[in-house]
Amino acid sequence: MIDALDGLEGVVAAETILSEVDGAVGRLTIRGHSLDALAGRVSYEAVVRLLLGGFFPDLPQDVRPALGAARAEVFAETRAIDAALERLTPTEAMRALTARIADGEDLGAALRLIAAPAVFTTAVLRRQAREAPLAPDPALGHAADILRMLRGRPAAAAEAGGLDTYLVTVSDHGLNASTFAARVVASTRAGLTSAVLAGVSALKGPLHGGAPGPVIEMLDAIGRPDNARAWLEAALDRGDRLMGFGHRIYRVRDPRADALKRAVRTLIEGSNALPGRLAFAEAVEQAALGILKDRKPDRSLETNVEFYTALLLEALAIPPSAFTCVFAMGRVAGWIAHAREQLRAGRLIRPQSRYVGEVPRAAA
Ligand code: SDX
Repeated sequence: MIDALDGLEGVVAAETILSEVDGAVGRLTIRGHSLDALAGRVSYEAVVRLLLGGFFPDLPQDVRPALGAARAEVFAETRAIDAALERLTPTEAMRALTARIADGEDLGAALRLIAAPAVFTTAVLRRQAREAPLAPDPALGHAADILRMLRGRPAAAAEAGGLDTYLVTVSDHGLNASTFAARVVASTRAGLTSAVLAGVSALKGPLHGGAPGPVIEMLDAIGRPDNARAWLEAALDRGDRLMGFGHRIYRVRDPRADALKRAVRTLIEGSNALPGRLAFAEAVEQAALGILKDRKPDRSLETNVEFYTALLLEALAIPPSAFTCVFAMGRVAGWIAHAREQLRAGRLIRPQSRYVGEVPRAAA
């Protein structure tokens, strides 16, 4: 038996053909393709095809029509949005609606689950804004339809491109907490909906996929570049974590940070919205990296995927309360591929624990 405490750090808990996160050199490989070969170059539908390839015999070459049809199909579940569900956070509401999708292991179930975060999040946000949910347009690409369902008007190509790049960039990332949770549930043969619900629940935490919203709160609280150092020092003095920095695996800069920064630059420069926002964020980033290096010299705390995620989703006018939902819109394809891979491996995931609690008193 081996001891693997401390968050399973350094433990290899599965073999996978899906993705590799090389934390030493800062490289992400997805099904044999480097992130740079995918982000901004191929569509999210192409990455869905890449990730699901080999796990569903009836997977079409072009996933786009089938995913569009799946969006239209799950839209019927939005009629369950009532006053109680509207009072939940977008992530909790999206999770509740996803739970209405029956568990299954076939391609149809998989595509409905990939469609679900997109359709349910946009419907919930519109209901919370007192507007009627908009039915999907199956003819559109996934990213373009997400923005259309959210806003009620077609998105500019640059905006759909920016969101598509984001969905591709976060689609899979080794055995992160939410993917591991999905694999554990899949290993009991509970079904794909159950595995995805485990993934959404793990992703929700601020140490994982719940980080980008607080990045915007941090930037807004800092307000101006010359406030950055004092604000960041005070946050660390309080014992707060700086959202968007640090990573369990990356010991150098997360390669996704630069992929998303490029997408933000393209988007903001193309629309001159939020003038100066990127330069301000860069100034805060540099201040944070310097302070973290001074305070934790033995830890490499670099910028992770969430910092520029926040800037990109803000530039797309997505509310910070829904940033985790948008993360799920991309990562859901990875959760499903890992769930199917785990089923192929077949064994139940069941580690041991060491009992350090009370021992029964000796019988009198
Ligand atoms: C994602 O695993 C994945 O691949 C995740 C992800 C994916 O694609 O699925 O990449 C997505 O989750 C990115 C991370 C998003 N989370 C955040 O940005 C939240 C802030 N970051 C941290 O909380 C932290 O860096 C973690 C949780 C991401 C990783 O933490 P670890 O590996 O468990 O390290 P740790 O918590 O043990 O911290 C080690 C030390 C501690 O100091 P000491 O107690 O040793 O003195 O580093 C410090 C921590 O206090 N530290 C930070 C910090 N991150 C670590 N201090 C301040 N700010 C931070 N961000």
